[in-house]
Order: sequence, then structure tokens, then C-alpha cells
Amino acid sequence: MTHKIAVLAGDGIGPEIVEQALRVLHALGLSIQVEQALVGGAAYDEHGHPLPAQTLELAKSSHAILFGAVGDWKYDKLPREHRPEQAILGLRKALGLFANLRPAILYPELANASSLKPEVVAGLDILILRELTGDIYFGQPRGVRTAVDGSFIGEREGFDTMRYAETEIRRIAHLGFQTAKKRRSKLCSVDKANVLETSQFWRDIVIDVAKDYPEVELSHMYVDNAAMQLVRAPKEFDVIVTGNLFGDILSDEAAMLTGSIGMLPSASLNESGQGLYEPSHGSAPDIAGQGIANPLATMLSAAMMLRYSLNEDGAADRIESAVRQVLAQGLRTADIFEAGTTKVSTAQMGDAVLQALSKV
Ligand code: IPM
Ligand code: MN
Repeated sequence: MTHKIAVLAGDGIGPEIVEQALRVLHALGLSIQVEQALVGGAAYDEHGHPLPAQTLELAKSSHAILFGAVGDWKYDKLPREHRPEQAILGLRKALGLFANLRPAILYPELANASSLKPEVVAGLDILILRELTGDIYFGQPRGVRTAVDGSFIGEREGFDTMRYAETEIRRIAHLGFQTAKKRRSKLCSVDKANVLETSQFWRDIVIDVAKDYPEVELSHMYVDNAAMQLVRAPKEFDVIVTGNLFGDILSDEAAMLTGSIGMLPSASLNESGQGLYEPSHGSAPDIAGQGIANPLATMLSAAMMLRYSLNEDGAADRIESAVRQVLAQGLRTADIFEAGTTKVSTAQMGDAVLQALSKV
């Protein structure tokens, strides 16, 4: 079967890192059909919208999407609906990509990159499962209005709505338990049930879903405590399941534990297994065009795409072991460079992974 992949490279370092990931994908000997389209600021410049209709159509009609990154300071002054970030939010919503898998893995070769003590993070392998299409990100109503009750009557107020439907909580909870079962069978559900109604409801539903998974050890944690525990003893966690906003924040924190956000892939999946795969880092406009960005997170995202959407586990394994090999060889892009290793460019890293791939 030919795998149809939409490639949306986006802004900043997006095009450079996606180019290297595509070299790797094409070297696997699979039947892959790639089609590229503009997204984010690049699409706004060309078509006046960060997610043009033709880009959305291409995404919808593909088995999977390989996404680079979107955003640049030069778009900060645009009205919200035209900002690059709307492209990724729009894709998530339009494709129903409700499940966001964000692994935080510490590669042994990069143990010194973390700002935490090596013994706290050595061997770290946790997975944040973030619900991606609900919560305060999408809840209505939202906006700015004149207050009609409370003590600020007549004043303008900004407001958003945090909400979760039962079905939304159930499906992410099920996925959380199933994912934990394939790992170390520990699931921690993170909420703010001591304050928020939405969170208390979330917790009640997760407890109910847990009845189907007696073999998984379930715990609950308030988000403020989870933020603390992640830096105190991150290895206590296996899978963390949480809502959109808390997941946004905690996944950045977890990524930073590894000290090398340039290494971390992510997957956003819908109910039919279609997925969007992107590096966890952003568009890094400050280093765009210099050929120094780390393409490994994008390559590892391509590996996740092969595993989760294209049913090509063997090819995914090959990419992952090729990446491990180049790290073992001491090759590093600037973001993970340290004394005693060899600094390479984005393209040289691509060359090295291709070389390693030919041997695995
Ligand atoms: C992320 C990003 C996005 C989010 C932004 C760019 C809308 O921070 O993917 O984590 O908040 O979800
Ligand atoms: Mn984020």
C-alpha cells in the first residue's frame, strides 16, 4: 500500500528540519507519496490565512501529516484568527486529533544536558497524554464583554470557558489506561479538582473508566503538585493523562527535564488512527536559515508516524536505532553540543542518520 503523507513544514526552522526527516523517510524503501503545502505564517504570506482550504483538504485526505513548526514574531500583531498558531489549533479541531502523546525520554548520551542532577533523571522515560480538542482552549463562550454581575458591573472583562464533555474525558481516559498497560502500568491523572468543577467531573469519570483496567495502578494529582513532583522525582511517573491546558504546561516542563527539547517528537491522533506528527519544539525563528537546527525530533516524529498511523513498526525501529547510533558516535547539533562531542549542522546530522540507517 502507498502511504499518503501531507508534509506541512511551516515557518522558522520548520522547512530545514522537515527536509532532513524527508530524506530519512525516503531512504526506508517504503512506498510513500508525499505532498507538501503551506501552513502558518508562510501560508498567511501567500494566501492570507494560516490554514488555507487547500492545506486543510490535503491534511484531511492523507493518512498522516508530518508537521514542522509554525510561528514568527513578525505575526504577533495580527488579529488572533490570522496568527500562525491558529493553523495547528485548526488542524487539531478539524481532524479531531484529541490525543496528544508527548514522550519525555532522556537519552543516556545526553544525561548532562538536563539541568537536574543525573541521578534524578537518568533513565527517564515518561509519557504525557494530553487531551487536545477540548477544555478552555475551545470552550465557548469566550471573549471580552461588559460585566453584568459580580463586583465589576459595567467594566470590561475577558473570559474563557473551561469545559469537558463526558465522552471526551472517557475516550482520553481509555487511551491513557491502554497506553499505560503497554508500558509500566502506572497512570497518573492530573487535574485541579480541589477548585474546578470541570476537574472534579474529570476525576469522577477517570475513576469510573478505571474499573475496566484493574491491572493499571491509577493515581490522581493536583496540577500544582504534579508540576513540583515532575522536578522532584520525575521517574515516579509512567503515563500522565491530563486536559488540554494542564497538558500544555506540564509537557513543556517534562520536555525540559531531558534538557534537549530538540530531541522530542510528538503525535496527535484521532479516532481513526490518522495523526499529525511534529517535533515538541517550536519554530525557533532566531536560528532559522542558519542550518544549525536539530532535525532529530522531526525524524523521531516521522518514526512515531510510521508506528501509530502507517503500521510500519519495523521502519520506525530503524529510524530510532539510527538516531541512537549517531548520538553514540558523538555527533551533536548546537543545541545538544558539549565538550568532547562533534558539532554538526542540520544537513550533516541528516547525512549521519542516513548513513546509520543503511546499516540497520
Ligand atoms: C503546543 C503549543 C500550542 C498549544 C500553541 C502554539 C497553540 O504551545 O503545541 O503545545 O498551546 O497547544
Ligand atoms: Mn505548548
